[in-house]
Amino acid sequence: MKRTTSAAELLLQLDRHSGVPLRLQLERELRRSVRSGRLVSGSPLPSTRALAADLGLSRGVVVEAYEQLLAEGYFVARHGSATRVAARRTHADSVAAPEPPIPVPRFDLRPGLPDLSLFPRRAWMLSTRCALAAAPNAAFDYPDVRGAEPARVALTAYLNRARATIARPDRVILCNGSAQGIGLVCRVLRERGVRAVAVEDPGHADQCTDIRATGLRTRRIAVDARGLRVDRLARTDVGAVLVTPAHQYPTGAVLAPERRAALLDWAERTRGLIIEDDYDAEYRYDREPVGALQGLAPDRVVYVGTASKVLSPALRLGWLVVPSDFVDPVAQAKLHADRGSPALAQLAFADFLDRGELDRHLRRTRAVYRSRRDTLVAALQAQFGVLPIQGVAAGLHLVIELEPDLDEETVVAAAARRSVRVYGARAYRANPRQGPAALLIGYGGISESDMPEGVRQLALAIAECRTSQPTGVASARADA
Ligand SMILES: Cc1ncc(COP(=O)(O)O)c(C=O)c1O
Repeated sequence: MKRTTSAAELLLQLDRHSGVPLRLQLERELRRSVRSGRLVSGSPLPSTRALAADLGLSRGVVVEAYEQLLAEGYFVARHGSATRVAARRTHADSVAAPEPPIPVPRFDLRPGLPDLSLFPRRAWMLSTRCALAAAPNAAFDYPDVRGAEPARVALTAYLNRARATIARPDRVILCNGSAQGIGLVCRVLRERGVRAVAVEDPGHADQCTDIRATGLRTRRIAVDARGLRVDRLARTDVGAVLVTPAHQYPTGAVLAPERRAALLDWAERTRGLIIEDDYDAEYRYDREPVGALQGLAPDRVVYVGTASKVLSPALRLGWLVVPSDFVDPVAQAKLHADRGSPALAQLAFADFLDRGELDRHLRRTRAVYRSRRDTLVAALQAQFGVLPIQGVAAGLHLVIELEPDLDEETVVAAAARRSVRVYGARAYRANPRQGPAALLIGYGGISESDMPEGVRQLALAIAECRTSQPTGVASARADA
């Protein structure tokens, strides 16, 4: 009997964080495999069940992708035998047929992005112009690998005032996004003999991948409603822990005061390092912001910040405040990585901070997001009744739990068919099957006026997916 191709042999790559529905990604990957000749004409494909299991998808997603490729003529199916790759298309065919564009969702509820239309273009333009005009000729030379001095000075003042850090310009290192900063710190830890870093579970999957790429292992530590289970750190062999104390990603929990104390105690006792990812602490709506841990133990904490949430991820502007013994090795790692980040954007950022433009922008956007958050919560309650919602107090997204009989991926796919982009919580967990099915709903990319209709469409998608009697948690009230 002829063997079918396995998922591993197909080299299909799906990105659960890209925001592109998995069905569309799978279709693209299969189409590419046929076009590139990796899938030879006539070869049998894995069964939808086997491929779904290999890729950790629901079978419905694979069935839909196969049906699409059958309809497009890439696959052929004969009754009673495996679906196969259709007879070879010519090179001219494949050049002529463009990839169908990925549709832009009408209701973009993905988490993690600020509203890109709120970027303060005028103020940034002014700061860019002023910085360029004032820059001495030396500013056009190869930059200081730690970042332009005016930016490190301005950031220090901002962080000490707004985030209660204890920073000094000579301990600040600017990076290409906080992702690079965390990678550099991990490289230094590895050189110092650290073998493993603890990360939150659930947590940011890309950060785990980045840490492992430096040669370190990751140990997942559970998170509950009070944040990281710090008590579990003692049972591990880690030399550092990456944590989001002000606003856990993605659950939204704030690290409880006694756990903050326990975490600092762990670092002191074990000479361990806390890597504090303070990615969106500026967005806190109902209570005062929680100060950074770094301000309590500047020699045991690396503070990590970013402009990606407060301004735009396109700036690739992130920063570290490091303990004194990390300054030189991290700067050295940065030198080897890229010889320093673009200095002119840093000078513009310094001017932007010095003029108080970031404070002004935050005052404005905080009010916008708070109002959107309120509208979103009201819309969710109107559609679903009393609903467990987590992470409402801060950030740019919240989390809703799904009924136990609902499959997260099926819901995400059904929402995508209604032009609603949401993310499931599974991809953030060490064990995707552990923990309740849940959706992360962002409010950075949707206007307040679109919110009720977006949530109504989501509720309809959920209603479509319901396989048994609703348990009452997420019983949609929308009428189609
Ligand atoms: C938890 C967390 N930290 C940090 C970041 C920002 O990363 P960067 O500064 O590299 O854009 C993100 C972005 O999505 C995030 O989710």
